[in-house]
Amino acid sequence: MSFALKMPKLCLMGVGAIEDAVNELSQQGIEKVLLVTDHTLTELGIVDPVINALKNNKINYSLFDQVTPNPTVTLVNQGLEQYQQEQCKGFVAVGGGSPIDCAKAIRIMSTNPGSITDYEGVNQVKNTGAYFVAVNTTAGTAAEMTSNSVITDENAQKKMVIIDDKQIPDIAVNDPTLMLDLPASVTASTGMDALTHAIEAYVSAGQHTLTDPTALEAIRLVHQWLPIAVKDGKNLEARDKLACAEYLAGMAFNSAGLGLVHAMAHQPGATHNLAHGVCNAILLPIVSEYNAQYVPERFCNVAAALGGNVTNLSAAEGAQQCINMIRSLSSQVGIPHGFSELGIKEQDIPQWIDKALADPCLGCNPHQPTADEVYHLYSEAL
Ligand SMILES: [Fe+2]
Repeated sequence: MSFALKMPKLCLMGVGAIEDAVNELSQQGIEKVLLVTDHTLTELGIVDPVINALKNNKINYSLFDQVTPNPTVTLVNQGLEQYQQEQCKGFVAVGGGSPIDCAKAIRIMSTNPGSITDYEGVNQVKNTGAYFVAVNTTAGTAAEMTSNSVITDENAQKKMVIIDDKQIPDIAVNDPTLMLDLPASVTASTGMDALTHAIEAYVSAGQHTLTDPTALEAIRLVHQWLPIAVKDGKNLEARDKLACAEYLAGMAFNSAGLGLVHAMAHQPGATHNLAHGVCNAILLPIVSEYNAQYVPERFCNVAAALGGNVTNLSAAEGAQQCINMIRSLSSQVGIPHGFSELGIKEQDIPQWIDKALADPCLGCNPHQPTADEVYHLYSEAL
């Protein structure tokens, strides 16, 4: 089987990207879109530049801004109802992972039968939906350019991962001016999510010569610019570099896959409604230590990308340095040290084991863990 590099049709980066994206939407002849976002973003005026661009191009919109963190099946159904009632012909999503993932799921349901739960897993979607512009407001998930979405199935109490190329938005937009007001804690957690994407893609069983350079450059950029953006959110250069980092990480993992960090992070995220980036950041050094047993050379290269000097080190020593550097960066940007700081207890762990082992992200991990090993890793992360 050949390797596939998966990308949106168009990627627009930098100041002015929103206007260019809406111009493109207009050229597609689309007269009305469902504008999917969250209420905080509309309240803060972060969606205003998108609304103004739509108005300037005489494109009507129906605002669906009920999206909450960790969007649910119910929310997807509500968005679908609005899309159909308002006779929309396209999608514009504005936000981080939650609004964009929610829009991806509404788009699936607008052209496919049944329930969104029918499309869990890999390549289950038959029909691509209408034209889709995804405007990113955080430098983390890369949802604006990936084939993944994560929807919480509230009945099954789990995060459902849908992986399908038909979910890739037509246009991915990263305008750093939309990211200047992100709070430091969100900057930190989303930046650590991007770092996790890059590291998991780089050590993935699905890695490729075409994905390694983007993963390593993403790691280098996160290391250099995340502490600066956390300290000074208004630093436009730092925001721009982090947007590039998260996009590069997306280019890597969208084709190379993720791994055990994400498979495990989805579970406490679902049962305790925790920020995705924080769950990843807590698990990243612990799971990296586990994975480094199998691919130490790869982790040694990650250490170098994180600014470490690995010249005279063995692969195992370099890998250890990598893990220390991840811990140091995490602590520098204010990530909690363990899940117990977030109210999680040892008795919460058993419910996550089977779900983590069944998570589609696990397939690309460099080694497949046993249930006991996953339990042990969660315990270490408390
Ligand atoms: Fe992620």
